[in-house]
Amino acid sequence: MNYKKLTFVANWKMNLTSAAATELYKNNSDSFDALATKHDATIIACPPFTALTPLAAALKTSPLHLGAQNCSIHNPGAYTGEISAQDLAEIGSAYCIIGHSERRTLLHETDIDIAIKTEQLLAHNITPIICIGETQEEYDNGKTEEKLRTQLRLVFNIIKRYSDKKIYIAYEPLWAIGAHTTPDKNYLEKIFKWLIIFCDDNNTGNNNTFFFLYGGSVNEETITTLRTIIDIEGFLIGSASLDFQKFEKIVSLAYI
Ligand code: PGA
Repeated sequence: MNYKKLTFVANWKMNLTSAAATELYKNNSDSFDALATKHDATIIACPPFTALTPLAAALKTSPLHLGAQNCSIHNPGAYTGEISAQDLAEIGSAYCIIGHSERRTLLHETDIDIAIKTEQLLAHNITPIICIGETQEEYDNGKTEEKLRTQLRLVFNIIKRYSDKKIYIAYEPLWAIGAHTTPDKNYLEKIFKWLIIFCDDNNTGNNNTFFFLYGGSVNEETITTLRTIIDIEGFLIGSASLDFQKFEKIVSLAYI
């Protein structure tokens, strides 16, 4: 039995419209809420921007938390099409995913962008869920730690200025996202140990608390091994979070 407090981030990406995202919660609200309560799990639903407001209303009495999938690097102003961290905070989005590999790759987000977004979120009391991960080629060449160090370096320049914040680091190897495959257990144990030490070393003097998530092909099969890796404190779940039955099974299996 897993007695750790675990976090499950449902990253619905752009798969659901606002109505569909709200329905996914409303159609299963009792079961969703019971799932979080039964396991004392932190469940964070991350819908598209347009669903944040209706979902915030639907979650008013729910133990579930709300998260966005991105935020602007800018303060409110003349930035057409952008959504500010201030706006997210007002809506009630307590969490926000940043640096997802899809944004880094498809939308060319840089480590500088991710550092500025970290600043925006921390300044508005939103917990960042910072995604990092290596490509297949970097993995094959033994460059994972080097890549993660580069991705986190600027982010830590920001984090160092803050104290008493919650910060999630989601390790998501690019080659495992949507791929039906995960790294093996020994490899993940090594990476998470390294990550914990890296974050500890870079956080001296500040009282920030880090939580370490794994993401990439978390499903009903892979969770049985992933849950045995003691340093993993939760999961970022993409496609399997779109089906409540699958999501429920993953959460339940994580506690066996
Ligand atoms: P996946 O996606 O669970 O579908 O692999 C994870 C992610 O992209 O965060």
